[in-house]
Amino acid sequence: MNLVTQLALEVLTTAEPLQKVAAARKAAVCWKNATEFGSFGSQHGLPDRPARPPKPVLTDHRQVPKRKTGSAKGRVALIHALAHIELNAIDLAFDMAVRFAGECQARLGETTDETSGVSAGSMSAGGVAREFISDWIGVGSEEAEHFELLENRLKDLGSFYGAMNAHDGLWQAAVDTKDNWSARLAIVPMVLEARGLDVTLATVAELRDHGDPKTAEILEKIYKDEIRHVETGVKWFTRLCEVDGVKPDGTFKSLVAEFFKGQIKPPFNVEARTQAGLLPHFYRSVAH
Ligand SMILES: [Fe+2]
Ligand SMILES: [Fe+2]
Repeated sequence: MNLVTQLALEVLTTAEPLQKVAAARKAAVCWKNATEFGSFGSQHGLPDRPARPPKPVLTDHRQVPKRKTGSAKGRVALIHALAHIELNAIDLAFDMAVRFAGECQARLGETTDETSGVSAGSMSAGGVAREFISDWIGVGSEEAEHFELLENRLKDLGSFYGAMNAHDGLWQAAVDTKDNWSARLAIVPMVLEARGLDVTLATVAELRDHGDPKTAEILEKIYKDEIRHVETGVKWFTRLCEVDGVKPDGTFKSLVAEFFKGQIKPPFNVEARTQAGLLPHFYRSVAH
């Protein structure tokens, strides 16, 4: 089994959230220090769905407590919902790294490795796949940090992750795009994570207004990191479009139409999206 599969499987098959966080951190360190990587084609044993703890109970979104910033109970519901998103985000990043690394090498390897002077079959071959994996393991370890910050905040407020129901639909985008790398990049970082950029600053302002600067600070840190996550998605999506000789904006539009069942709605945080390289001509044309 190659190294990325080993590391990602440990994350994806660990159910207990703080153990998953620890596995994500360990994966980032192991990957950084690695000298032998194996080949990138194998997805041996990659689960369709990651392991989840017995609690929270996963339900329809209508049975998840309402998120509100104006009451202590509503804020706990908000932080719990965000922690659940971050837990899924850890798995999404590791699934991305392992599921599409082989395809990355096959489709982008020739051009990239040739231009960097690395010959196929040498110790350093697979440079582009290694870059891809490094990017997404980096994202995954930041998602782990986000989960931990929110879980600690829940504990400060007398609660914990698992204390209430959580939304069962978050892995669906991963299932829908499991065989399509461009679609995964378009939907997960460029639609779903970009949506987070649109809403977070308003939540931060409300939290400050309602006297919860500690949670506001955590969300601000997450917001800054998430801009880079969207940027990472745009980077790989654009490279893939370049090698395929297709226009990124038009390709994004058709993938969203095919793979995304929700709506892309304004108001958009144009500044943050633009900072991430997600320019208005991508999403304006698919907005409702
Ligand atoms: Fe995150
Ligand atoms: Fe993220």
